[in-house]
Amino acid sequence: MAQRELTFRIMRFNPEEPKKKPVLQDFHLTEEPGMSLFIVLNKLREEQDPTLRFDFVCRASICGSCGMLVNGTPTLACKTLTKDLPEITTLLPLPVFKLLGDLSVDTGVWFRDISLRTESWIHTDEPFVPDAPEERMDNAVAQKIYEAERCIECGVCIGVCVVANLRPDFIGAAGANRVARFMIDPRDKRTEQEYFDVVGNDDGIFGCMGQMGCEDHCPVGIPLRDQLAYVRRKMAVAGWQYKKA
Ligand code: SF4
Ligand code: FES
Repeated sequence: MAQRELTFRIMRFNPEEPKKKPVLQDFHLTEEPGMSLFIVLNKLREEQDPTLRFDFVCRASICGSCGMLVNGTPTLACKTLTKDLPEITTLLPLPVFKLLGDLSVDTGVWFRDISLRTESWIHTDEPFVPDAPEERMDNAVAQKIYEAERCIECGVCIGVCVVANLRPDFIGAAGANRVARFMIDPRDKRTEQEYFDVVGNDDGIFGCMGQMGCEDHCPVGIPLRDQLAYVRRKMAVAGWQYKKA
């Protein structure tokens, strides 16, 4: 079978040179068997333009650093094969996050902010005893926590979310998943009212418009619809109890 000549239309922009407008630059490459966007972008940088900016670390859907818009769809570039793409592919950076240059965005600042806002650590008055044996936990509960912990912080669910694109402070599905993880954990002694103070508002769980693109695109298949519904249900009850008090 004849090899295809592929065109990659890539957004070029350096935020440190704001006077230069963003442009789409075409790069051309001959397709090879088993080619992924990881291979494509590295080839382009090595052979055509060393200034091209993008992020990859693991190239195995583990580190979460290669999220981008591939023909308008947020996904991980390292798991995207060219055989599944048309001859012309447009690559844009993930929206919502701070743009560092071309296809490279800073998801770390966003996720750190969410961690601090939702106080993503176990809240307990139990003293820490480093040599104590590990506490036992019900297997089903541990599985639910593990499910939420599988998030690789790629930002795809945030990039695809209409609300997150409109409201920079919206916690999004990744934030709600984080909150669910601690709500499930019996070692975390926060009350539902305490959670309500943090996420019981329109930048929190009540901002979700239920479009659910997040679950459709999450590359590791976290059941985000369930996580959002779980937190929303708990916060609706907490809000009602608040009103009564
Ligand atoms: Fe990525 Fe899924 Fe985590 Fe969202 S929930 S940041 S899509 S792994
Ligand atoms: Fe790590 Fe794509 S390079 S998830």
